[in-house]
Amino acid sequence: MAVGQATAVAPANIAFVKYWGVQDAALTLPYNESISMNLDRCLTTTSVQFDSGLETDEVVLKLHGQNELVAAGRPLERVVAQLDRVRSLANVQSRARVRSTNNFPSDAGIASSAAAFAALTTAAATALGLQLSDQELSVLTRRSGSGSACRSIPSGFVHWRNDGTDQGSYAGSVAPPTHWALADVVAVVDPGVKSVTSADNHRLVATSPYFAVRLQEVAGRVDQALTAIRDRDLGQLGIICEGDAVSMHVVAMTAQPPTFYWNAGTMAVIHALRRWRNEGLFGYFTIDAGPNVHVICDQRAAAEMDNRLRSLPEVQFTIVNGPGPGARVIEAGASAMRAEGSRQE
Ligand code: DP6
Repeated sequence: MAVGQATAVAPANIAFVKYWGVQDAALTLPYNESISMNLDRCLTTTSVQFDSGLETDEVVLKLHGQNELVAAGRPLERVVAQLDRVRSLANVQSRARVRSTNNFPSDAGIASSAAAFAALTTAAATALGLQLSDQELSVLTRRSGSGSACRSIPSGFVHWRNDGTDQGSYAGSVAPPTHWALADVVAVVDPGVKSVTSADNHRLVATSPYFAVRLQEVAGRVDQALTAIRDRDLGQLGIICEGDAVSMHVVAMTAQPPTFYWNAGTMAVIHALRRWRNEGLFGYFTIDAGPNVHVICDQRAAAEMDNRLRSLPEVQFTIVNGPGPGARVIEAGASAMRAEGSRQE
């Protein structure tokens, strides 16, 4: 018998100041705070239906450009573990049917797991009638192990605060999507699955001699990014984005064992951006745990930036994003109605 069901949509997000390194892997507590923007075009939609007649959780994934697949192994374990956290809060035993669809390439430096765990947690909590504040939902989403997913809960421009405690490590909005007409033009140079996950590297950061340097710099960058967002200062935000991405990748490249996420296409885009800036077209790079480049620019420059990026032989395709809202419930079944509250749209 169905116990409760809901469907939620959640965005991927791009970090201007990155989360890189976990000090408590069990609770997913980061070493440093981070700053991000939700993406309006990179979305995951997840339906969760709890059913007392089910013996196990059933998880079906429909990834971009691929056939539906029934999750197994590590991806299934991670979903079940997150459902267990939600069940335990709601004091419910029932297993669930989960169906998740995303509209952008997975695991290529676009945070697909962030969108996925934010949508899963929002849908599951709503289906079970939990009435959580955004802050509580962000904490619960962070515990999924995909820490950056906590930044996909609140809307627009987001600050993941962290005081090193479970309840004090959560993301909140610092400005709505309408605050700044910024664009993130994602230049995909390789849509394949990345070979080394962020999770592996989050545990290795302390093996890099440059991690201590990064930690000294990063708190200042968080403050500078907040000021740049408040003042809508693209030049300032661009310097922070590029500096922080290089710092994160230096740590990855100098950890034991090292990881080199960048490829020749990544470098081609970086050099092109520097050339175009000299010609008066302003775009700044940031790069997550993969080779693809997120180009941050003014929305008025996005069409020209997109055209130029697509003209590079190394760029396979692009995705043009603006700032977007956070996770939201798009449909909830009768037994989940108590949970509608502020998250229902
Ligand atoms: C480089 O562990 O949150 O994107 O690997 O997608 O689960 P997944 O992400 P997570 O690490 C994110 C690392 C990052 C930087 C960032 O988004 O802050």
